[in-house]
Amino acid sequence: MKKWYAVIGDPIAHSLSPYMHETWFAENGVDASYIPIHVKPADLEKALSALKTLGVSGFNITLPHKEAILPFLDRLDETASIMSAVNTVVVDGNQSSGYNTDGDGFVESLFTTPVDISKKVLIIGAGGAARGIAFALKRAGFGTVAIANRTLQRAKELADEVGGFPMTLAEAENDLGEFGIIIQTTSVGLSENKALPMSLENIKAGSIAADIIYTPLETPFLKKAKEQKCITINGVGMFVYQGAIAFEKWTGVKPDTEKMMKLITSKLG
Ligand code: ATR
Repeated sequence: MKKWYAVIGDPIAHSLSPYMHETWFAENGVDASYIPIHVKPADLEKALSALKTLGVSGFNITLPHKEAILPFLDRLDETASIMSAVNTVVVDGNQSSGYNTDGDGFVESLFTTPVDISKKVLIIGAGGAARGIAFALKRAGFGTVAIANRTLQRAKELADEVGGFPMTLAEAENDLGEFGIIIQTTSVGLSENKALPMSLENIKAGSIAADIIYTPLETPFLKKAKEQKCITINGVGMFVYQGAIAFEKWTGVKPDTEKMMKLITSKLG
């Protein structure tokens, strides 16, 4: 029987996940479809039960449900459990298993550029996204991971958990030249927001500057980093790779990520 998959969120209309997964199903001859479903926070439990009753094979979860879904799943993998957040569910019979592919998706997208894991990494921000990325960087073997955040206490908590170094934004601005890889995970720069999370005056030419935002494709952070002669990576790669890891969990097939990055970039450009 034809399988079906979904993404649930609030809002959901602008999600590019249906386009991405439907394209990969077609490219790989997988007989399945993928639909966006608008689920309000108060309806989450009912929606999950309905998805299972209707025979969904798997689904993605986006804002604001990534944490709220935890109590309703039967099983969590280690990463989802560490992060207390899930973006991918595999349904097998009546059993639902939660995964989080965001952090690993980011790290895989980072490796589309030549990267030296002995370089010091700075993460700007200490929220949910920073958390997933910090753990994934450590798993990938990066030695030094510093976390700079507006609220120092949150940077300290994350640094303690992951074995990193907390910094204030002012300290990070000052020491920026020491870092070979700088990752922007805050919401500063999203959509019409023209601000930078911190000054990039001291960034070293040739270092890698990555942003997890993909609307706009070039955030003020990336624009400034490019002016300072850095190698820049936007959030399209993270979006595509988190989806590719989910796709492989569902179908056993590794989809074409390089082509998808081009397709998504042209859709957004
Ligand atoms: P997410 O799960 O998307 O990472 P979050 O948990 O709300 O979202 O975290 C948002 C991050 O952006 C935090 O690091 C936040 O800093 P605080 O911990 O100090 O709140 C950061 N952030 C948001 N707005 C910011 C701003 N105007 N300047 C600097 N950092 C900002």
